[in-house]
Amino acid sequence: MSGVRRIGVLTGGGDAPGLNAVIRAVVKSCRLTHHIRVVGIMNGFSGLVEGQWKELEREDISGLLPRGGTILGTTNRGNPFRYVYRRPDGQEEVIDASRMVVKNIEKLGLDALIVIGGDGSLSIAERFFRELSIPVVGVPKTIDNDISATEVTFGFATALESATSALDRLHTTAESHHRVMLLEVMGREAGWIALHAGIAGGAHMILIPEIPFAYDPLLAKIRARERLGRPFSLVVVAEGAAERGGEQVYADEDAVTGWKRLGGVSYSIARRVAELSGYEVRVTVLGHIQRGGSPVPVDRILATRFGVEAVRLAVEGKFGYTVALRCNDIVAVPLAEAIGHLKRVDPACQLVQTARAVGIVFGDEDPEDVEAAEG
Ligand code: F6P
Repeated sequence: MSGVRRIGVLTGGGDAPGLNAVIRAVVKSCRLTHHIRVVGIMNGFSGLVEGQWKELEREDISGLLPRGGTILGTTNRGNPFRYVYRRPDGQEEVIDASRMVVKNIEKLGLDALIVIGGDGSLSIAERFFRELSIPVVGVPKTIDNDISATEVTFGFATALESATSALDRLHTTAESHHRVMLLEVMGREAGWIALHAGIAGGAHMILIPEIPFAYDPLLAKIRARERLGRPFSLVVVAEGAAERGGEQVYADEDAVTGWKRLGGVSYSIARRVAELSGYEVRVTVLGHIQRGGSPVPVDRILATRFGVEAVRLAVEGKFGYTVALRCNDIVAVPLAEAIGHLKRVDPACQLVQTARAVGIVFGDEDPEDVEAAEG
């Protein structure tokens, strides 16, 4: 019989649709299958620094499956090894609060800690496991789908649904007004949301960080469509996209942690396209719409599978691992292998080739080829 009696669960980093479904699955499988009690840690690792947690009872998880967000709260600023501490005088400073986390885990009597997070939170979990022997199990999450250990993360499909639906709406208004419409989507250093949404939503151009773009092929595509009697175009822009030889655009930077938030690149692209093409160009930055709302069924199912398997790993004492989806099975991958190298779009991959085959331009083509392809 397993010696695990009490498990802690926390959600860290940016939220993603499906977090609540994982929490629900953890609590249900702990209680129904393994007779283990669950403590919900509030606001990521910060809860273990500040002493914020609650026992999760049956009523806490009722109605959770379709709910977006996380009932436990989360933060991007909760790294205990570089904790942003607000002094009584209101000034912020960075301290190492990792020992407070260890103390609180002991105080709570946790036999395991399930960390649901992206690359940042899983890296923190791995460090607690490696340096301080904390019995952690990871669950990967992010709408960006950039965690290399797993083929898919929950949240991605829901974000994709929102981005595709936005493109469908932009399509009709672009056509009516004969405009070029830019839709900026999230994804950080990876173009997965942009690539998938662009294909699903019938975009004419997709700009992703992995393929630096030039303006000439974009112009060629706009002109070629015009000649075919289609004087409007849809462009999906990943927030991390950059012109060849240019820089990524940041919305802001956290003064204490130095974390830089991507966003806003579409505005300069729109200005340039308008200048060069003479078209009216409009920008929609989809933003956190992609993170909110109810998870779509595939995200609910993946989240449930991850939650149940994370508990199983904890019960088996398989710590220092994260659950991951591979070939439609949930497997255990060492955290050390799962972190630090993001999964990005390979410009030569089949999906990019598929997009090119249906005429989608990425901005790295020869403009003459783009013109010729449209006939
Ligand atoms: O990693 C998820 C993500 O939504 C990115 O796509 C985006 O760049 C970032 O988080 C936004 O972070 P914040 O919630 O701090 O605005």
